[in-house]
Amino acid sequence: MDLYGKTIVLTGASGGIGEEAAKQLARAGAQLCLVARREEELQRVRREIEAEGGRASIHACDLADPADLERCADAILAQHPRIDVLVNNAARSIRRPIREALDRVHDYERTMQINYFGALRLTLRLLPRFLEQGSGHVVNISTMSSQVPIPLFSAYLASKSALESFSRSLNAELAHKGVTSTIVYFPMVRTPMSSKTAIYKHMPMMDTAKAAGWIVEAAAKRPARVSSPMGTLGGLAMAALPGVVTRLSQPLFRQMDKQLKRKLQDDRD
Ligand SMILES: NC(=O)c1ccc[n+]([C@@H]2O[C@H](COP(=O)([O-])OP(=O)(O)OC[C@H]3O[C@@H](n4cnc5c(N)ncnc54)[C@H](OP(=O)(O)O)[C@@H]3O)[C@@H](O)[C@H]2O)c1
Repeated sequence: MDLYGKTIVLTGASGGIGEEAAKQLARAGAQLCLVARREEELQRVRREIEAEGGRASIHACDLADPADLERCADAILAQHPRIDVLVNNAARSIRRPIREALDRVHDYERTMQINYFGALRLTLRLLPRFLEQGSGHVVNISTMSSQVPIPLFSAYLASKSALESFSRSLNAELAHKGVTSTIVYFPMVRTPMSSKTAIYKHMPMMDTAKAAGWIVEAAAKRPARVSSPMGTLGGLAMAALPGVVTRLSQPLFRQMDKQLKRKLQDDRD
């Protein structure tokens, strides 16, 4: 699909992958509705888009707050008679061993609140418009770590898996009405989110420009999945032999963690 003149609602547009995706989508001619909590960052992104001749409106909103989300969805629907694509990109990540989360059910609630319920609520609010139009596309951002589960991210990965499952149901129920969905499985990307974990400093990662390109591809081509070959292969292996893959991969993850910690220690010495 040519994105020129299309209206795209993009959450998590105030930084990281979302900011870069907003700029690339605007360069492709789309009109952006930028959503995130930090209004001043959204204003900065809008200014940068407009300086390049693009078009964007901003909607400061805490997507984890249902009342705020309702208000934001109403404003977007009122301002835009047609909405073509929703990109559910806003998220939070928590890295913590399950054994240290025994009294922290709120870790699981917090990731669900934004990563799943925030994305779900916004999708449900825009869905009647998509059905009225006879077309609409939802891009749900997930992670390669749900294709091959890594340790230490149980709260984050559970919330992303819920979003993926909803995404597949949407395709199964509504594709024949013109409403479709893509799951994007990013590998590690260098952003404020991944930079919170100090030991990832030395991990090779995708840059935000390339990651944003995956979102543009998802919006324009509307495939069911955008994934790296490694993620797709890993997902196939997990589906066929989950026990074997988990047994073989877990020592590798532990080894990788040790190496990254050693490199970080070398930096500090
Ligand atoms: N970075 C990676 O390695 C990686 C890997 C796989 C998948 N992903 C996925 O890629 C997407 C983008 O991640 P990123 O690395 O770019 O993250 P990031 O740099 O932390 O950016 C997250 C964005 O979400 C917004 N956000 C967070 N909580 C929000 C809330 N309650 N309401 C509204 N907006 C909220 C933030 O804006 P405000 O703070 O202004 O609200 C920010 O714009 C996420 O879905 C993430 O799970 C990332």
